[in-house]
Amino acid sequence: MSLVAPYIETLSPYVPGKPIEEVAREYGVPDCAKLASNENPLGASPRALAAIRDALSRIHLYPDGASFALKEKLAARHGVDPREIVIGAGTNEILTLLARTFLAEGEEAVISENTFLVYRIAIQACGRRAVAVPMKDHRYDLEAMAAAVGPKTKLVFVANPDNPNGSYVTKAELDRFLAKLPERVLVVLDEAYFEFVDKSDYPDGAELRRRRPGLVVLRTFSKIYGLAGARVGYALCDPDVAGYLERVRDPFNVSSLGQVAAIAALDDAAHVSATREVTIEGRAVLMRELPRFGFTVVPSVANFVLAEGKDGDELFRSLLPHGVIVRPMRAYGMPNAARVSIGSPQENERLLRALEKLADGSGPLHAVSRKA
Ligand SMILES: Cc1ncc(COP(=O)(O)O)c(C=O)c1O
Repeated sequence: MSLVAPYIETLSPYVPGKPIEEVAREYGVPDCAKLASNENPLGASPRALAAIRDALSRIHLYPDGASFALKEKLAARHGVDPREIVIGAGTNEILTLLARTFLAEGEEAVISENTFLVYRIAIQACGRRAVAVPMKDHRYDLEAMAAAVGPKTKLVFVANPDNPNGSYVTKAELDRFLAKLPERVLVVLDEAYFEFVDKSDYPDGAELRRRRPGLVVLRTFSKIYGLAGARVGYALCDPDVAGYLERVRDPFNVSSLGQVAAIAALDDAAHVSATREVTIEGRAVLMRELPRFGFTVVPSVANFVLAEGKDGDELFRSLLPHGVIVRPMRAYGMPNAARVSIGSPQENERLLRALEKLADGSGPLHAVSRKA
């Protein structure tokens, strides 16, 4: 007999991007270009780093369990009441909390196939059913998702832009979708990559939420602010929804260093705009150059691109000896694709040079160069 319920027994763990340290150990390449986890190529905001250093002397104290100062700051930024904000250890924690808090027995969540894997894991981990709707041309099919919403549906997850496809839904598409859903359905609009989008028809969830109380908008400090390791994200939502999430979350879910770093990063407009700039430029370079190597690139508005047309696992392995880490997409149901995060200009160049070597056969093969 299994120690756990069948839904835990059959759960596939989330496999993160391969860490730089692991590649250094296995291949003897110390200075990898990690283009596997959509991190910030410029690093963290210098202001955030200074705030972390300042806060270190108080690390023996528990953090403010209410994240009061960060909530106040975000409330002012978004023009909302602090009771409309929930802070989490990354948006990841909030995704898990949403499933735990709102999916009662017998209720379901509607998601898209080939989207961010954490949605499915969060739903299944509490023994609930995820109804996965196929994408259309690498985009969310919101019409089909609306049709999949039934009497048992409590949550709908929409990543905008989507990870790993890099595509987005327009304001008109989202408006039409929301209008079709019953009020009792909570729509989780995950805007982890919000700041990288440069399209005029891209909707701002924080604005839309003013008209639709059942909308839960997620933002993160992991991407544009460069604080992935500090683990801070937040939800903007109705105070009632926030109140329930606050009941379920752990008392000290966000570390003191994460809180001060996030507060400082919010004031670092220069770092945000530099990140945006380097990302948008790098994105154009990779979207232009990757097709030269036989890839089909899905048009992306985020800080990564999805490259299709080669076995993703093989590409991942053959790039490792060149010190380049990409993310194979088999776990996302796309074995012939890899996701490539936009790096610094040097990192993007390194990827392209490695692909050139692989293409002309002069690059080392992983099986040969891998350390014993
Ligand atoms: C769509 C999406 N949502 C949420 C997250 C989680 O981000 P974090 O927990 O670091 O805030 C990610 C991370 O890659 C993501 O791609």
